[in-house]
Amino acid sequence: MLVPAGCDGPVPSGELNAEVSSTTARRIHGGDDLATDIHSFSRPDEARVKRLELELTVDFAAQRLSGSARLQVAVAPGATRLVLDTRDLVIAAVRAEQPLKFTLAAAQGDFGSAMTIELPSAGSGGGSGASGAAAVARELWIEVDYATSPGAAALQWLAPEQTAGGKSPFLFTQSQAILARTWVPCQDSPGVRMTYGARITVKSPAGGPPLLAVMSASNPQRAAADGVYTFDMPQPIPSYLLALAVGDLEFRPLGPRSGVYAEPSVVGRAAAEFVDLESMIGAAEKLYGPYRFGRYDVLVLPPSFPFGGMENPRLTFATPTILAGDRSLVSLIAHELAHSWSGNLVTNATWNDFWLNEGFTVYFEHRIMEAVFGDEFEDALAVLGLQDLEKTIAELTEGGLVRDTWLRLDLTGRNPDDGVTEVAYQKGARFLQVIEKTVGRERFDRFLRSWFDGNAFQSRTTDDFLGFLDRELLAGHADWKTAIAIPAWVDGPGLPKNCPRATSTALARASAQMQRFAEGARASTLDVNGFTTQQWQHLLRQLPATASAAQFADLDATFGLSKRGNSEVLFEWLAQSVAHRYEPAFAALEHFLTSQGRRKFLKPLYLELSKSESGKALATRIYAKARPGYHAVSRDTIDGILKWGK
Ligand code: BES
Ligand code: ZN
Repeated sequence: MLVPAGCDGPVPSGELNAEVSSTTARRIHGGDDLATDIHSFSRPDEARVKRLELELTVDFAAQRLSGSARLQVAVAPGATRLVLDTRDLVIAAVRAEQPLKFTLAAAQGDFGSAMTIELPSAGSGGGSGASGAAAVARELWIEVDYATSPGAAALQWLAPEQTAGGKSPFLFTQSQAILARTWVPCQDSPGVRMTYGARITVKSPAGGPPLLAVMSASNPQRAAADGVYTFDMPQPIPSYLLALAVGDLEFRPLGPRSGVYAEPSVVGRAAAEFVDLESMIGAAEKLYGPYRFGRYDVLVLPPSFPFGGMENPRLTFATPTILAGDRSLVSLIAHELAHSWSGNLVTNATWNDFWLNEGFTVYFEHRIMEAVFGDEFEDALAVLGLQDLEKTIAELTEGGLVRDTWLRLDLTGRNPDDGVTEVAYQKGARFLQVIEKTVGRERFDRFLRSWFDGNAFQSRTTDDFLGFLDRELLAGHADWKTAIAIPAWVDGPGLPKNCPRATSTALARASAQMQRFAEGARASTLDVNGFTTQQWQHLLRQLPATASAAQFADLDATFGLSKRGNSEVLFEWLAQSVAHRYEPAFAALEHFLTSQGRRKFLKPLYLELSKSESGKALATRIYAKARPGYHAVSRDTIDGILKWGK
């Protein structure tokens, strides 16, 4: 049943918010506009969480977080309930000053269960009177005692063998997009912001080093003997940016406000890889204004981390697969840093507006890379990015998912994860680039800066952006509007005709070498002197479909591709080996698939394998071994590809 959002009467609990038109979706409450979020059960227009105080104990033996969440709630006039998102949480009790009644609706797959708490009636002394905005009748503190389930999808509990040190267990969370609800009862919508504090108690296993807890908040720099850590995040953030990690971690400073956390055996390599971090922060600030979150640190996780990076505020989480040894993959850090403006400061209001986070961030990432490392590096990234985009568009279109190639998504009834494609990232970035090229860089930079400043700590829809664009940049310039062709980009399929195409002399050199190889030259005669990671990626992507096994063997023997430590180069090589059924590389393939869990690498390899009977058999055998070591996010994706358990 679809429930009209914004209707005055009570809404049956347990219903996801219905999609409504952008005009009726806007409601005013507490001074903020709220767009309706179809991926959350919460009703922030009735009662909205403003601050969270977490008090949790981390129990590695039971693989459980337990304790309480105290929620400061602003209640609209006449509202009688608070609706929270939960999934697989065990709720023990709810109270304000006295116990409160609550119901948990039946679980709806990935969306979990709506938890509806009956608020104490206004006169009963539970509230503290109105504050600020007229639409808030009162504020309450509500406390939820709860525990997580061992299978909580946001949490990955690693055994010591799954870490670099091999001696201590490790825990990390991944909340984006809708997994925060599996470890915190919250309004799990990017349109709701809260500040938070936390007190985390870690029971370190006997005999091992004391474990350090870190969060997307103010962080300790060394482990505490009593295992008790307190955190504060004074800037309001959406729930998908809640993050916690616990492990045998060491901190190394990189600059006055930046540093890196990693396991002791990794932290030196990480610090060397990220030496340019302070310059990147400086470059970002010069472009779009001051960094507003205090410190910027990076946490390098064990290899099962399912993403390249995650922009948890103050503490980016990163995969160790970017530690290439030559800083060639630091654009990922530029990307996560850029999210400190696009995403964490100005946030997509719903997951249908995901491109506002990722497209802006890729555009900004490229600007940072250009400022710090020069045009050539940036051109190479742009060419490779466009290749990725064209491939994705072709796959989605052929797979009957052409609607997913629009920037403005419609993810009704689907997991927002389905919207995580190159479309949001690369098509989004190209759209901003078209605008930049049309109006000129200086003017566009001023405009973007005013977007970030004018919408700081707010969540915004695609329509909000288009309105701002129209008012602040394009008004009175009909010719610019025609040149940009906004509807073709935002509400249309594929790649619009005016998409800018970068060229890269460095990559052209790689193409020329591959051309020679395709025409019969031996690998040893190719000029790959000084090739960058991006040149290797490009060279391997151009391998012709007709390449023979002997040619594969020649390449591998000459360039040691199966033994590459650079994850991006190794990935391209393995992807080609699978597509061409070059079996001598399959031992390296198996090692790669069982030694790291980054979904971006796993998905295409398993997908390609699953296209043939023998490949599928191999994939299934490897997956049976690898699956217990993957995070739920990657597991879900690969389960789908291999129809695991079906
Ligand atoms: N915020 C994303 C990761 C994400 C998106 C997690 C959606 C869950 C749902 C992060 O900023 C990201 O985009 N990471 C990329 C790296 C980037 C350089 C493209 C990744 O993990 O590959
Ligand atoms: Zn991103």
